[in-house]
Amino acid sequence: MLNVKLFQMQKFLTEPYEEALAPALKEAQVKLQTASGLGGDFTGWVHLPRDYDKEEFARIKAAAAKIQGNSKALVVIGIGGSYLGARGVIDCLCSPNYNLKKKNTPNVYFMGNGLSADAMKEVMDLLDGQDFSINVISKSGTTTEPAVAFRFFRAELEKRYGKTGAKERIFATTDKARGALKSLADAEGWETFVVPDNVGGRYSVLTAVGLLPVAVAGVDVDALMGGAAKMMEVCEKQADFSCPSWQYAATRFALYKAGYPIEVLACYDPAFRFMLEWWKQLYGESEGKDGKGLFPASVEFTADLHSMGQYMQSGTRNIFETVVRLGASENQLYVPKDEEDGDGLNFLAGESMDYIRDRAMEGTLLAHYEGGVPNLIIEADGKTADALGQLIYFFEYACGLSGYLLEVNPFDQPGVEAYKKNMFALLGKPGYEDRKAELEAKLK
Ligand code: PA5
Repeated sequence: MLNVKLFQMQKFLTEPYEEALAPALKEAQVKLQTASGLGGDFTGWVHLPRDYDKEEFARIKAAAAKIQGNSKALVVIGIGGSYLGARGVIDCLCSPNYNLKKKNTPNVYFMGNGLSADAMKEVMDLLDGQDFSINVISKSGTTTEPAVAFRFFRAELEKRYGKTGAKERIFATTDKARGALKSLADAEGWETFVVPDNVGGRYSVLTAVGLLPVAVAGVDVDALMGGAAKMMEVCEKQADFSCPSWQYAATRFALYKAGYPIEVLACYDPAFRFMLEWWKQLYGESEGKDGKGLFPASVEFTADLHSMGQYMQSGTRNIFETVVRLGASENQLYVPKDEEDGDGLNFLAGESMDYIRDRAMEGTLLAHYEGGVPNLIIEADGKTADALGQLIYFFEYACGLSGYLLEVNPFDQPGVEAYKKNMFALLGKPGYEDRKAELEAKLK
């Protein structure tokens, strides 16, 4: 099972914070388990790994098989919580070079997560001559970026296959009843999947939002859900510091209070990069409100040791580091011996890449500790679907606990809504006329 380790934390947290935080954590635990805290209407993810809709789960697998059978590519259109989880899981379990690999599953392109015409045109060109399908994902069904991207890709699909053919290739993941996307899907007869009412975007990776794209890429979704279910049980039953989510939530909160408001999440595997992005959204959007919250940043080691490493070692002393260790690599590569030893590397001849990486981890841990950076280590159960399921649930649960420790609503995102409204107004969306004039005057 996943495990949290604290490295010499007593140097930074001199008071016994676990005992002090236990009552608040117990309260937070009850709030999450009984949906009775702030934003309790959005805690459907807490028991999701057990209570998920089994009939829909079977439909997800069937849709994935259909896409695998008739498409060389899947265009996944979504932004924020409707995108990052799926991308993180595919990168982590299938490779960041997934689309370049020889495989029996379709390429997966993530679109609608920005507004770059060049990025969109590039994918359109890559799809030239390739059969493709679309999974459009938006809980609200009104978010501008995915809606705009969907127009382009849907038009292309309908041009190629006609409206009837395209109907077989569009899958919409959205609210069960509301929103423009749901109305459109019903009117056009596209297959739909549901983002449950009580699950917000950034907690939705284990719903159809994440599951359909990752199943298309060949990820074992049963194992992913199974791993999450194991961690769910731990979090439900172990309402104390033996629960890794409690340990993590409490320690980072204590560090925040002790003058470390910035958390840097690190991993030594480039395949984890988009899981870092997913984590940043989860924690940034859940905690950063009411003038509070830890700032979530991320680094990819060892690459970033040659850039951010300097700052982490000796810049402003207000950061702590959480390192995700994924364990042994799938491939064991050993440094070859070179008779001439021109590069002086023969002291490593015969050693595995994992051995070298692990020494880098230890060396960095000690250097950062000595430089004044508190360190937490999350030991994942490996780089498998089961282990990633555990990790996803672990982070989600700790995030809920953490939001309640901070006394914020961990399940809303008023800041994101503010930008969306301004954008609608500036683009002239009907209904926003007054706001448009006001914003334009401010921009002058
Ligand atoms: O976590 C969230 O709620 C947000 O990041 C949303 O996922 C994001 O804004 C996309 O929203 P929607 O799925 O409604 O298009």
